[in-house]
Amino acid sequence: MATELLICKDERELFEKAAQEFIAIIAKAISEKGRAAVALSGGSTPRGLYELLASPNYRDQLDWKNVYFFWGDERCVPPNHASSNYRMAYETLLAPLAVPAENIYRIQGEQEDVAKAAADYEERLKSFFGHQPRFDLVLLGIGEDGHTASLFPDTAALEEQERSVAANHVEKLSAWRLTLTLPAINAAHNIVFIVTGAAKRAILHKVLFGKREYPSQLVKPTAGRLLWIVDRAAIGGED
Ligand code: 6PG
Repeated sequence: MATELLICKDERELFEKAAQEFIAIIAKAISEKGRAAVALSGGSTPRGLYELLASPNYRDQLDWKNVYFFWGDERCVPPNHASSNYRMAYETLLAPLAVPAENIYRIQGEQEDVAKAAADYEERLKSFFGHQPRFDLVLLGIGEDGHTASLFPDTAALEEQERSVAANHVEKLSAWRLTLTLPAINAAHNIVFIVTGAAKRAILHKVLFGKREYPSQLVKPTAGRLLWIVDRAAIGGED
């Protein structure tokens, strides 16, 4: 499957296009299977997308009770912590849409035993999917070091080829993270990266056009679709 690249004039258009893609992918999955499973991205970029999806222009385009929410990764913090990916998504998307609690599969970043937290989430994925997870949509961002989810350069989780969830120690952050692994991400029907801003220009060019050396370049759907939605500030060049 070829990699698709959608260049938007600015961040606002990027969130509109990403929201339209989200709705289209999820609506198709619901029409085919009666439900859809999405793994949300963390960080700051997706906030604008989540707020738009919960806005009057989009909120009524899906029957959210058929949408099941997971995360691509989580920091090892409590759910009410300022850096919790769950908290950001809950405040901007899940609470405004009144998503039923049973539709929300939170990664328990508060667990002291990170290996157990990863194993528990793996079990919850297996119980939902009944087999290896195959998300209808995995939303991803990219860090300036080329990481995605919590798959950072030179970290152990990059090598994981069996499990779907890993506890990953990130030396540069002196922190543990919980993350979907490449097999779980690459099994998705649709993988969408959203990248905004001039700060990401250098890494975006390396990842899209350079030799393969960053975790984000290991995201290659085995049978699904890979779409990059970027704004002009991130990709450069003329309008
Ligand atoms: C996280 C994300 C991470 C994020 C990138 C980009 O937990 O931080 O999963 O992979 O997508 O770091 O973050 P920004 O959107 O804040 O630039």
